[in-house]
Amino acid sequence: MKHHEKYITVQKAIEQGEGDAMLHGWVHRERESNKFKFIVLRDGTNIIQCVVKKDEVPEQMWNDAVKLQVEASIAISGTLKRDERAPTGVELTVKELCVVGPSDTYPITKDQSTEFLMDNRHLWLRSRQMNAMLKVKAKVMQGWREFYDTHGFIEYTPPIFQPNQSEGGSTLFEVKYYKEKTFLTQSWQLYGEAGIFSYERLYCISPCFRAEQSKTSRHLSEFWMAEVESAWWQLPELLDSIEGCLKHIIKLVLRDCADELKVLGRDTAKLTPALEQPFKRMTYTEVLDMLKAKANMDVEWGKDLRTVEEEEIVKFFDVPVMVTNYPKEIMAFYKPADPKDPKTALCVDVLAPEGYGEIVGGSQRELDIEVMSQILRDQGEDPANYGWYFDLRKYGSVPHSGYGMGVERVVRWICGLENIKDAIPFPRTMLRWTP
Ligand code: 4AD
Repeated sequence: MKHHEKYITVQKAIEQGEGDAMLHGWVHRERESNKFKFIVLRDGTNIIQCVVKKDEVPEQMWNDAVKLQVEASIAISGTLKRDERAPTGVELTVKELCVVGPSDTYPITKDQSTEFLMDNRHLWLRSRQMNAMLKVKAKVMQGWREFYDTHGFIEYTPPIFQPNQSEGGSTLFEVKYYKEKTFLTQSWQLYGEAGIFSYERLYCISPCFRAEQSKTSRHLSEFWMAEVESAWWQLPELLDSIEGCLKHIIKLVLRDCADELKVLGRDTAKLTPALEQPFKRMTYTEVLDMLKAKANMDVEWGKDLRTVEEEEIVKFFDVPVMVTNYPKEIMAFYKPADPKDPKTALCVDVLAPEGYGEIVGGSQRELDIEVMSQILRDQGEDPANYGWYFDLRKYGSVPHSGYGMGVERVVRWICGLENIKDAIPFPRTMLRWTP
């Protein structure tokens, strides 16, 4: 069989359902009887059952087929027919078979521990679950880009080496930079703010790094954040944009990734309220009142919401909850006080339903250099290091806002994943940075 001949994807073959087809991919499963060898062939798009019949093929081909091990790469041609008993409803009777790359005994078999699968992540990526997640994740990012591209935004490329913190010094990764030191970005935000004075509406999807001390199912040390910054926006426009974008993403995933969500065992009915109903909007203070009244939970005003509280809040709704006006004191230096309630900040966290928790954080931006300098000093930082950032307030400052969406957090929620580590191909956490 010549390799330049026309191959189609497994998905195409399933859709075609009859006639001849040439396919290439990997042996996902194999079993044999005296007369038949069954191969479930896998490519990026789907799986299909293929059968080699001993009596109908040359002896050499039968021998090659019998020797095939899981994950060998093969090219085959044959005839398709619809068959309800086949895993994806179509079976290919093989006429020609060529082994492209034989496989050793594949180390991944059923019922292996999470740690083993993590150690063999480079191979586990080929699993149906990972394949489904990768496709949903790509769709989430496509949805994000599509939404902002059609709302007058352009994509922006921030630096990853950054001299300052934006989300607190304790989670900075310090890196050697020639003979000096610098940090890996925690968020593009400060650089996004610089950019909007050139083009008012910017977004980016970028890796972010945080030396999180927590070993939870929602923290990674390296994750991808989709961020937006817009001149002229205030909190209401920010909230509307977040809701619009998340709805667009869910719409696209439900439309294009139904098979993937099925592979992942996701109950998609749980996602439709977020698409069809308005998100719940509450202030931090209203949230505390609700927790007290409905859950008998007493949170002291001024304390940040912990995972337990977030989990409790979302139990009352089947749509995401947008919590605004957190206490100013505990917020990052760039989040401004709300003039109507100065103890609180003009900011928002979005909590996903079903206990998935925070997926988005955003705010209006502080415009007063002195206010920011004082907070930085109180945190033991030298405001002089933020001179370039303060320049943005000196030369034609405008109200502006932005937010960041944790891509893996959203993928975890949409796919219904137990752990955020399964929302990224090669997770990096406090205890894991290989392979
Ligand atoms: O709420 P955060 O810290 O906000 C910012 O970084 C702002 N500068 C964003 C902005 O306004 N442009 O992070 C935003 C989101 C969180 O809501 C969460 O979804 C995700 O980033 N995130 C993480 N995801 C995985 N692992 C971690 N360690 C994360 N830390 C934050």
